[in-house]
Amino acid sequence: MKIAVSFLKYKESIKRTIEEIDRTDADFLHVDVMDGKFVENSFLTIEELQEILPLSKKKLDVHLMVENPDAYIETLVRFNPFCITIHAELQNALDYIKKIKNRNILSGIAINPETKIDTIKFLLDEVDLVLIMGVNPGKGGQELQEVSVHKIKELDMYRSESKHSYLIAIDGGINQNTIKKISDVDICVIGSAISLSDDYQLTLDEIKKIGAR
Ligand code: DX5
Ligand code: ZN
Repeated sequence: MKIAVSFLKYKESIKRTIEEIDRTDADFLHVDVMDGKFVENSFLTIEELQEILPLSKKKLDVHLMVENPDAYIETLVRFNPFCITIHAELQNALDYIKKIKNRNILSGIAINPETKIDTIKFLLDEVDLVLIMGVNPGKGGQELQEVSVHKIKELDMYRSESKHSYLIAIDGGINQNTIKKISDVDICVIGSAISLSDDYQLTLDEIKKIGAR
């Protein structure tokens, strides 16, 4: 299982938090972007993204919680991210997925806890990654929802049955306690449990160790 660390919740500054994440052996920097429309909160404008993304040497795992991903995608391709994820709840989700794929970047769809797998099966034919939201998108530090844990199993079963090869990721509510409930995911996104801790590498090691049991 690979780990992506989110800095949505940061200690002193975004810059120092990213630097600290960079010093760990985490596989990806998870970049949450919010426009204040798709979700209530705002986090990282296009200008801010251009300023902070060069700070990290990690591969970028971008999570767009925005109503109109176009301008963000255009900016982000310059940073050659590992993956750009948009939300399945967007009306034109398929168009955005195609746009990302056309730029030779892995495309992901994020699904909110209340979104049923059946309603997104047509998207599963196209995507490289499914980001299961463990919490309602918009803020860090919330509790993992049980429904999302079941969704991992459902998506994993569907992947084998249908011979799809999308990666499965979980985002939100993962910490030393909840990691025990998680299996069959390829990527685990962890925010506040690491970003607000005193020793990022130590916390990361702890979570990985518990997760591997
Ligand atoms: C929530 C974000 C998450 C968030 C996770 O909308 O997509 O990436 O940072 O934070 P924790 O791990 O604190 O739930
Ligand atoms: Zn996220």
